[in-house]
Amino acid sequence: MKDYFGYQGKTCVVTGAASGMGKAAAEMLVDLGAKVYALDWAEVKIEGIEKYIHTDLSQKESIDQAFEQIPAHVDSYFGIAGVSGTKSDFVTTVKIDLVSNKYICEEILTERMSNGGTIAFITSTGGNGWEKEGNKKVYMPVLEAKSWDEAAEILNQSIMAHLPGTFGYPFSKLAMNYYTISLQSTFAPKGVRVNAVLPGSTDTGMKDEFTQMVGGEEALLSHTGHAKRLAESREMAEPIVFLNSDMASYISGELLRVDYGCTAEEVAGIVPVGTPIDMTQLLEQVQKSMQQ
Ligand SMILES: NC(=O)c1ccc[n+]([C@@H]2O[C@H](COP(=O)([O-])OP(=O)(O)OC[C@H]3O[C@@H](n4cnc5c(N)ncnc54)[C@H](O)[C@@H]3O)[C@@H](O)[C@H]2O)c1
Repeated sequence: MKDYFGYQGKTCVVTGAASGMGKAAAEMLVDLGAKVYALDWAEVKIEGIEKYIHTDLSQKESIDQAFEQIPAHVDSYFGIAGVSGTKSDFVTTVKIDLVSNKYICEEILTERMSNGGTIAFITSTGGNGWEKEGNKKVYMPVLEAKSWDEAAEILNQSIMAHLPGTFGYPFSKLAMNYYTISLQSTFAPKGVRVNAVLPGSTDTGMKDEFTQMVGGEEALLSHTGHAKRLAESREMAEPIVFLNSDMASYISGELLRVDYGCTAEEVAGIVPVGTPIDMTQLLEQVQKSMQQ
């Protein structure tokens, strides 16, 4: 049988492989014949993976130690891990959801990927509105940072550091959506493709935290459009496994919304647009409240 996906024997690095979408993707990759290096701070129990590497993505040193245990040449990177920010502060949330991916791609994968390599992230439809100037203005300084330490310094010095961790989630997802597009132009000369999947509400380890964030199960379901149910982890793993495969060889810089048409209907004006996040406005409000 022809290996259409082309994962046989390929070295794949999956973050967040202990649970939810990352776990589902890692399982699929094992079935497709890949050598899977599974990074997570929780133990990854998947039969057939090459290695589980205990990693804290909020720590640069932990990421460095993880990549010391991974072969020099990486074929595919799946940046899936993330936190909602309900249990972590703003800066830590952004380090996990954004800075870790930026660091891995710019300071590790540039040296370790070659022609035919692929990178894909799980970002979020929670990062819709990433193209709006009011949002860009706020996240660009972090994306333009030249190192982990510079990004951390910018975050620590920013008024945003006073925001609850749950604001770190949309901040990171807005930035990751832009970043996917900018990174594909950096990697294109190397023949490496970069894409992202933007999930709608999905039944994973994060479900309870999101339910709490949006104010109940009914509110969570209101973001599921015609599907009228949460997606399953597998339904996000499938598109990310596709995007990083040989089956998507002419797809790069794509933000693939997997939300059963929810965002598309908003863009088309078929349903009203939810209140889009404006980070500039949000920071102005925080500044005002701090001055009072
Ligand atoms: N569930 C949803 O509704 C939804 C919607 C849109 C986007 N997402 C995104 O999907 C991605 C996958 O999350 P999920 O929904 O499968 O949730 P999940 O909680 O089931 O999985 C997240 C994984 O990331 C790992 N992780 C968290 N912090 C880490 C750290 N510091 N170091 C190493 N590993 C860490 C966790 O241990 C866990 O295994 C996340 O980026 C999330 O933001 C989720």
